[in-house]
Amino acid sequence: MRLLVTGGLGFIGSNFVRAVLRDRPDWRVTNLDLVTYAGNPANLADLAHDPRYRFVKGDIAEPADVARAVQGGADALVNFAAESHVDRSILSATPFVRTNVLGTVALLEAARAIGRCRVVHVSTDEVYGALGPDDPPFTEQTPVNPTSPYAASKAAADHLALSFARTHGQEIVITRCSNNYGPYQFPEKLIPLMITNAIEGKKLPVYGDGRQVRDWIHVEDHCAGVLAVLERGRAGEVYNFGARAERYNIDIVSRIVALLKVQPGLVEHVADRPAHDRRYAMDAGKVERELGWRPARSFEDGLAATVRWYAEHEAWWRAVKDGSYRDFYRQWYEERVP
Ligand code: NAD
Ligand code: DAU
Repeated sequence: MRLLVTGGLGFIGSNFVRAVLRDRPDWRVTNLDLVTYAGNPANLADLAHDPRYRFVKGDIAEPADVARAVQGGADALVNFAAESHVDRSILSATPFVRTNVLGTVALLEAARAIGRCRVVHVSTDEVYGALGPDDPPFTEQTPVNPTSPYAASKAAADHLALSFARTHGQEIVITRCSNNYGPYQFPEKLIPLMITNAIEGKKLPVYGDGRQVRDWIHVEDHCAGVLAVLERGRAGEVYNFGARAERYNIDIVSRIVALLKVQPGLVEHVADRPAHDRRYAMDAGKVERELGWRPARSFEDGLAATVRWYAEHEAWWRAVKDGSYRDFYRQWYEERVP
């Protein structure tokens, strides 16, 4: 298997590349990543000398970069590359349209040109919009109804991916997953921001009343699901992923405060996110029935393990937070990877 992974220096992509090379030892992986602020070469520094792993710095929205990455062939492609943070999409939507929409189209076109190249496009529960407190979880039949510019750009990419599957008969499968947490998540997202701020004795900014609900899944469970879809998912289909772990934001923050034994007074309610989706919840019944996938971790165990990981990897997140990862790690990595 010659696999192209895009966005493999980010949070989920780096966990996925590491898991694939552990569980599929005869596969070869090329990682195409633009090394944006969210792409951190340190996330895969342990693979820098692995002959099965090749890094290509480039933009998924640039067809020439994509062509460089698939030189020598690609049997499959998993697209993680994206602008992924909702708050940033509210400040400026253009990079989201460029990477998430135009970038996805460039990858779909490249896969079409190659011929037999299976595509897994990694999407999100946010394309479905928000649920009320008593609504049933999202299924694959729930109409797409995005709120934020981030979610709208992901929904546009999903429509394009399905249109290529129908129009050109390409083997394309979409995954839509709920909120991930775990090692190597950029500390702009709720859980790593709260853990690292708490360790630093900084305020813990909870948007609005903190009674928004997200459905949490450990990143390793999501990665196992993406691999199952890559190997066995039906072309032209969408698969929802979630771990039946709906939690209020404020309860998660309180749990982190308790695990780290810091002052509850650090919690500070701040202005709410505009058009903040109140609740997400995923029905993962289809992937459970069809592919036998199940999440392995409970949220409580996963959160405790994640708090421990950040406590034990201070150098990693401190370099991200003070910005030095942009110079030090990139230079270190580029010296070693052609
Ligand atoms: P991330 O922001 O941590 O990483 C994104 C990666 O993509 C980075 O390495 C970045 O350098 C790279 N990238 C950005 N623009 C690029 C471009 N134009 N060309 C090449 N590389 C580019 O994101 P993440 O949280 O790991 O999310 C990965 C994917 O999973 C995204 O598509 C996201 O929409 C989806 N997703 C995320 C979650 C979550 O909770 N984090 C949940 C469901 C789905
Ligand atoms: O649901 C899947 C999505 O989950 C992914 O598609 C996105 O890429 C990913 O970023 C994530 O989006 P959210 O907006 O749900 O994640 P975030 O970590 O930004 O916020 C989680 C919740 O916590 C949300 O209700 C907003 C709130 N929040 C977030 C931050 C950063 C706070 O209350 N305070 C904060 O400082």
